[in-house]
Amino acid sequence: MDIQFDFTNRIVMVFGGTTGINFGIADAFARRGARVAVASRKQANVDAAVERLTASGGDARRFVADVRDFDSVTAAFAAVHMEWGEIDVLISGAAGNFLADVNSLSSNGFKVVVDIDLNGTFNVVRAAFAHLAPGASVVNITAPQATIPMRYQAHVCAAKAGVDQLTRVLALEWGARNIRVNAICPGPIAGTEGLERLTPTDDPGGSTAITTVPLGRLGTKDDIAALAMFLSSSAASYISGAVIPCDGGGAIDSVKTGIEEAGRSLAAAAQADS
Ligand code: COA
Ligand code: NAP
Repeated sequence: MDIQFDFTNRIVMVFGGTTGINFGIADAFARRGARVAVASRKQANVDAAVERLTASGGDARRFVADVRDFDSVTAAFAAVHMEWGEIDVLISGAAGNFLADVNSLSSNGFKVVVDIDLNGTFNVVRAAFAHLAPGASVVNITAPQATIPMRYQAHVCAAKAGVDQLTRVLALEWGARNIRVNAICPGPIAGTEGLERLTPTDDPGGSTAITTVPLGRLGTKDDIAALAMFLSSSAASYISGAVIPCDGGGAIDSVKTGIEEAGRSLAAAAQADS
């Protein structure tokens, strides 16, 4: 990377930060000197994450907390504040997803995703505020479903649209305390649970998703971590209320693969006739 970030002794909390993209963000901050706390539901994930952060030289703390349980979230923030002081960087990225059309979704199936993604984000930021340092950076992790309607994704579309708007409202309300609030909208990221869950079973690597990316490749966890660090650095000190795609241009590619394929076969037929 041709930009060097230095987060020495900065306090970073990553909610949902024990696997995948969010762990990649936690790891990136830890490697640049930050003290990093990670939290999620499963003890095994929390333990494995802290073991990896510590092995790469970081000072890390672990919390088992479910974003749907406000008290467990509050307790995690209070413990970090008590031991390390006010939090400089908060990443909120816990999420759940599965493919289901609306008629296969029970009321509880819809609710569980909204509860984790949207209400969980509210719980995390609401509980965090009392523990944030003036000048803190908050970064929510959203998804393209927030703005692009997708079949089988009604729950995620509804929840992440809410995350985007919550991000903007927080930026309005917390700006006066010099707390910046932004969101990152990742495209398809290689080697993640999120991509795996939205990928056909005969394409385990997720390469079909590349057809929707103008830059022609899947994203990496490092791509997202770099943006999270930029947004939390002094270089971004005038950026707040932004929802920033990190998706190889996918968000502006409105061409649906099916239409593109139909267009290609029309062109091929026209060429054969000429
Ligand atoms: N299709 C339809 N409904 C489903 C489903 C599926 N594939 N998977 C779960 N549900 C429904 C369940 O049937 C249940 O509804 P019901 O009570 O009416 O039967 C509801 O969703 C809750 O399921 P449950 O397994 O109790 O939820 P949980 O809190 O244990 O787990 C999930 C939450 C379902 C989101 C789970 O997939 C998860 O933990 N995901 C985290 C990891 C992840 O999704 N990563 C990708 C992030 S983008
Ligand atoms: P992931 O590895 O499954 O990450 C989700 C994390 O959230 C896990 O660490 C999980 O740990 C935690 N979590 C889930 N439910 C929780 C809860 N109720 N309370 C606390 N923690 C909880 O998936 P990922 O693919 O890396 O996704 C990370 C983020 O990126 C998500 O916000 C997702 O929407 C977004 N995103 C991903 C992609 C992609 O291509 N992967 C694309 C766009 C957006 P536990 O199981 O231990 O709780």
